[in-house]
Amino acid sequence: MNEIREIKIDLNRPSINYKIHIGKNILNHIIDFLPKKNFSKIMLLTHSYLYELYGKSIEALFKENNYEFNLKLIEEGENSKDWNICHNVLEDMIQNNLDRSSLLLTLGGGVIGDLGGFCASIYQRGIDFLQIPTTLLACVDSSVGGKTAINLTNNGKNLIGSFYQPCSVVIDINLLKTLNQNEWKNGLAEVIKYAFIREDNAEFYKFLEQNKNEILERNNDEIILKMIETSVQSKAKVVMQDEYEKTGQRMLLNLGHTFAHVLESGSSYQIAHGTAVSIGMNLAVKLSRILNLITEETANKIIKLILDFGLEMQIPKQYNFNAEALVKAFVYDKKAENKKIKFVLPSGELSHSAVFSDISEKLLKDLFSISL
Ligand SMILES: NC(=O)c1ccc[n+]([C@@H]2O[C@H](COP(=O)([O-])OP(=O)(O)OC[C@H]3O[C@@H](n4cnc5c(N)ncnc54)[C@H](O)[C@@H]3O)[C@@H](O)[C@H]2O)c1
Repeated sequence: MNEIREIKIDLNRPSINYKIHIGKNILNHIIDFLPKKNFSKIMLLTHSYLYELYGKSIEALFKENNYEFNLKLIEEGENSKDWNICHNVLEDMIQNNLDRSSLLLTLGGGVIGDLGGFCASIYQRGIDFLQIPTTLLACVDSSVGGKTAINLTNNGKNLIGSFYQPCSVVIDINLLKTLNQNEWKNGLAEVIKYAFIREDNAEFYKFLEQNKNEILERNNDEIILKMIETSVQSKAKVVMQDEYEKTGQRMLLNLGHTFAHVLESGSSYQIAHGTAVSIGMNLAVKLSRILNLITEETANKIIKLILDFGLEMQIPKQYNFNAEALVKAFVYDKKAENKKIKFVLPSGELSHSAVFSDISEKLLKDLFSISL
């Protein structure tokens, strides 16, 4: 087996601490990454073409090791983070007699991980689930930290969900080879975010700048592994300090996300999460400048990295967003308290962000008016 990097998520409760295994060609060793061996049944949740590409060999490995194996396929796309699909997955879990010592495997991007994690968290009050992320976004962000969710139809991005940690995460960069360039860039939006939220990531900004060509062209496994490992470590640190988003630390991971969520739901999820995040980071930078939280030099450095990676910065015209409706949609954000919307904004030094909750509606409308 190639070298495996292991990141421990220590949540001060030994029964739910787990490891994130990162490497190349490591999926063949998935049985070694199970936290225990005596699972009564395994169910794999994925999309049909991911099953063809990677799921079949996972199935073979489990069957060779005498596990009872079931498969559940769902449609790809954000619309699968939905009550009806969730209900349907739970029904299948019941039909297949999964019990409390069964394991749900999620093979896919953030959609599969968020939906599967949520199903695992409520089925029989919680069964084990193991994440095998297959998009860059899922590797560096959604598979780490135990946030699970489905959407409600109107403005309801991630409004139903739970904090529920996986029992193990296996990140094999070989699986990312089939990802198209758009999806790669969606993941890069979440990677870049880490460079701007905590001082201990100042070096990461330099790393990303220096290696942008290799990262975009995906031609250097060592650099890709280091980028994923650093991102996972950053997220892990925050999650270990603030598992339930109580102290404000974990909220920093939402840089650009308050804007992103209204753009995603306002476009009926036609704007992908990663794209919405890069547009959201641009809006956050603009807002920080208006509030004089950062210098123009710092703003330019942030924008330069977003541009260097060819990420989307402008709100697309075709959805006819208007400033008033966008501002109204903020009240559905989970971070809103007493109708006060919280924004994570770059503030001070380059790799520093903070949470602000006293942004007036007028300011937001003005921001959208100059950005639409
Ligand atoms: N739980 C969290 O902490 C967290 C964090 C960030 C984002 N999210 C959520 O993640 C979701 C977005 O995740 P995503 O960007 O991975 O989207 P996704 O799961 O929809 O995957 C994007 C596309 O890539 C395809 N795909 C996946 N793996 C592939 C592979 N290896 N090869 C080829 N194609 C592949 C999928 O079928 C899909 O069409 C959003 O719902 C967002 O809210 C959750």
